[in-house]
Amino acid sequence: MYITTPIYYANNKPHIGHAYTTIIADIFARFSRLNKLPTFFLTGTDEHGEKIQKIAQNKGLEPKKFVDEIAATFQLSWDILDISYDNFIRTTFPEHEKAVQFVLNELYQKKFIYKGEYQGLYCVGCEQYKTKTDLIDGKCPDHKIEPELRTEKAYLFALSRFSKILFQKIESDELQIVPEARKNEILSFLEREELKDVAISRSKEEVSWGIELPFDPTQTTYVWIDAFLNYLTGLGWPWKKDLFEKFWPADIQVMGKDILRVHATIWPALLLALDLPLPKKFLINGFFTSGGTKMSKTLGNVLDPVAIAEKYGNDTLRYYLIKSIAIGEDGDISLEKIQEKHNNELVNGLGNLVARVLAMAEKYLKGKVPQPVFPTETISAINNAYLAYEKFFSEMRLDQALNTATKLISDLDRLIDQEAPWVLAKNDPLRLSEVLYILLESLRHIGRMLWPFLPQTSEKIFQKLGVFEEEMKNGWAERKEWGLLHEGTLVAKGDNLFTRFSS
Ligand code: MSP
Repeated sequence: MYITTPIYYANNKPHIGHAYTTIIADIFARFSRLNKLPTFFLTGTDEHGEKIQKIAQNKGLEPKKFVDEIAATFQLSWDILDISYDNFIRTTFPEHEKAVQFVLNELYQKKFIYKGEYQGLYCVGCEQYKTKTDLIDGKCPDHKIEPELRTEKAYLFALSRFSKILFQKIESDELQIVPEARKNEILSFLEREELKDVAISRSKEEVSWGIELPFDPTQTTYVWIDAFLNYLTGLGWPWKKDLFEKFWPADIQVMGKDILRVHATIWPALLLALDLPLPKKFLINGFFTSGGTKMSKTLGNVLDPVAIAEKYGNDTLRYYLIKSIAIGEDGDISLEKIQEKHNNELVNGLGNLVARVLAMAEKYLKGKVPQPVFPTETISAINNAYLAYEKFFSEMRLDQALNTATKLISDLDRLIDQEAPWVLAKNDPLRLSEVLYILLESLRHIGRMLWPFLPQTSEKIFQKLGVFEEEMKNGWAERKEWGLLHEGTLVAKGDNLFTRFSS
């Protein structure tokens, strides 16, 4: 299972949008590892191009020094946020730069790249030429600036040759785009507009911060060509073959809706030109606004994922981002909303349930797991939950998979109310021990399902239940069975899972 995120522009520290895409990818990577599948999760930074060159210049820094700092900040942020990436690729790595030149040479020799002239409307914010129909009132809708009319002597990539084949590969789901609405959007774009050949180089005088074309040292490589190849070079391609043979083609490429079109055109066309298989799936996420408006530095509403995680915890951030919207939809985030969800669903819901069950186990059973019981109804409810959870994962509906786990929390709350263990403690010790077994063992299954989403919380639950080692050592299939919490295991309430915030 090979999972990638976009490589993020190394021009600023990560914001909540970058964290969102990266967390989605992380959840798939963790679920895959839980299933004991060979897994490779790649992320990284996109470090060349005009935009970064200009920002570094304005700061009076050498571009390489500037991107070194930003790349380190990204890496540190992902480490703080528990992102379980296997490799962090930087487009300034010499192996990557050499691989880009290798590809350009190949494509030049195969005549997919030729010398010509390119005229178009260029938006530096997007680092892309725009078509007239992309603009609103003559401006780029994402950057609110008028693109410049540019005529450039450049090398072009014969993208126009790929219109039909791309349409066919996307329509047939050979390259699947999820959700369906995004697939249809690309298909209608490909039907509406003939793809034009794209400039793949810039004059070095204008953009010096880029990879030199191997066959023309006056030109540097267009940053998107350089960037796409990260998905291959991140596996060591073309210099090392082992990871590439094991993991290519990519299973899931996660990205935001803003960069779907380039990904669904230039990227697969490059692969076809290189005779390489296409990725299997693109998963397209929507955008988060902050407090109802687009995040922007001027408005000062750019949310820092690390600061949020430091205050509320990583798992609260992950929970909010996944639970509040379905992947593909747009959502809104604010500190108030995070805090509300944290208090209502994590403190009052999951945290409270775990504390209640373990407090009763301590009080009535001296913290020892009672004899296992095998109630058919509960077992079939748990089995059904696993089936639903797996189905949602395969459909890439992470919000629903998470809901399957959180629904079990309310089921257990209901069970406690119905059975009233504090009454059973007075008149029916046998039933009390049965009910407590059901509660404790169900918590183990909830912990299991939560792990890809809330790894820290899940691991704390395992620790409290005295099963941390077995759960971490064994995979999904081995631990799904009912009754694996053994009699006599010591459990302990310990600290609360979550802290309540009041201001
Ligand atoms: N460098 C290119 C990608 C090259 S991949 C071969 C790039 N970088 S970026 O830094 O602008 O990151 C864009 C990605 O960040 C989006 O596609 C999306 O995944 C994520 N997001 C950025 N802002 C976002 C929101 N406000 N909300 C959700 N995700 C957003 O494009």
